[in-house]
Amino acid sequence: MSGTETNYDLGYPIVVGAASEFAEFASQFDRPALVLTDADPTVRRIARAAARAMHRAPVIPVPLGERRKRLVTVERVLDELAARGVERDALVVGVGGGVASDLFGFACATYMRGIRYAHVATTLVAMVDAAIGAKTGVNLRAGKNLVGSFHDPAGVFCDVTALRTLTRSAMREGMSEIVKAAIIEGGDFFASLEELSGHRFAAWPWEQVIAGAVKVKTMVVADDRLEAGRRETLNLGHTFAHGIERASDFKVPHGSAVALGLRAAGLLALQTGRFSRDEHLRVLTLLALFGLPFDTAVEPNEILAAMRHDKKRRGGRLRFTLPRAIGDVEYGVEVPLTSVRAVLRRLRELPEPLLARR
Ligand SMILES: NC(=O)c1ccc[n+]([C@@H]2O[C@H](COP(=O)([O-])OP(=O)(O)OC[C@H]3O[C@@H](n4cnc5c(N)ncnc54)[C@H](O)[C@@H]3O)[C@@H](O)[C@H]2O)c1
Ligand SMILES: [Zn+2]
Repeated sequence: MSGTETNYDLGYPIVVGAASEFAEFASQFDRPALVLTDADPTVRRIARAAARAMHRAPVIPVPLGERRKRLVTVERVLDELAARGVERDALVVGVGGGVASDLFGFACATYMRGIRYAHVATTLVAMVDAAIGAKTGVNLRAGKNLVGSFHDPAGVFCDVTALRTLTRSAMREGMSEIVKAAIIEGGDFFASLEELSGHRFAAWPWEQVIAGAVKVKTMVVADDRLEAGRRETLNLGHTFAHGIERASDFKVPHGSAVALGLRAAGLLALQTGRFSRDEHLRVLTLLALFGLPFDTAVEPNEILAAMRHDKKRRGGRLRFTLPRAIGDVEYGVEVPLTSVRAVLRRLRELPEPLLARR
């Protein structure tokens, strides 16, 4: 198959390629009952082209966005599937970013107790993170992603051509997850990002970069599908990030919060004698080159209070995933609250070596 096919460890194909390679990916599946797409006009165009490559399957646009990632929208989708007589053995194809893969995937996980679902990822976040790993779900008033299900997709196609129309900020959102993957993987992957950071995004070999990040996620997830242990590795920077998102009332977007969380995890690892200053600075430099933030005005006490609500908390204690080195992270680390507080205070300031750059 053309495109870059990542490993099959998860039991379903994940192909990274150009839109022109989609037909070949789709030929592995039976004809879809229908195509569900984010109603955004750009995404709809991508969905129409995908449907043409799949025996002109009907295309159903659904208005999405984080605020519509709710059960009412899921019900709309379920009603649509029922009205069109979609049967238990059908395949549905979804097109869009992480909101689409979470919401359409969840609808298909529950429709008739689960039908097959394949996703065409059109944002960087969906390609390197949301569309792989089987977590689907929607938000409740009480918080993000509080209702959901593990539902393996039948396949994922990462359409690198779609990146051309993404905004700079949507690209940044995905970059922090790629940097996270690179800290976990280390070696050539991290070094290749350092090398690429000097070039414009338009000149990047996206197929290679996305396949690299997908490989990290699939390897970790294959080892621990239901998050009993090693999957927590992927939570690097995220305990802090979720606290910052909540405390800012979601004004700080996830990717930016992850960048802050990666700095905080690095600082906490430095403070507890796990990580070297040189490697911490390499991470910060990379984040800076992608235009990601390091400092936030959000109150440390509010971040800490919000962190205590984290889904991943066990037995009332905060647990962190921390770097020991680039390419070596440790999960389930319990750290004294005083160290966490000290790190949160540092997030109010820029890191010294970077002050000069701004
Ligand atoms: N399940 C998981 O493991 C997981 C992991 C990470 C994130 N997520 C979820 O993913 C969501 C964020 O995903 P996202 O950042 O992709 O958001 P998104 O799906 O809302 O897409 C962002 C914006 O870009 C638009 N868009 C999509 N593709 C485009 C394209 N090719 N060109 C131009 N515009 C395009 C969308 O219409 C939307 O306005 C969050 O809800 C988050 O919880 C889930
Ligand atoms: Zn994330």
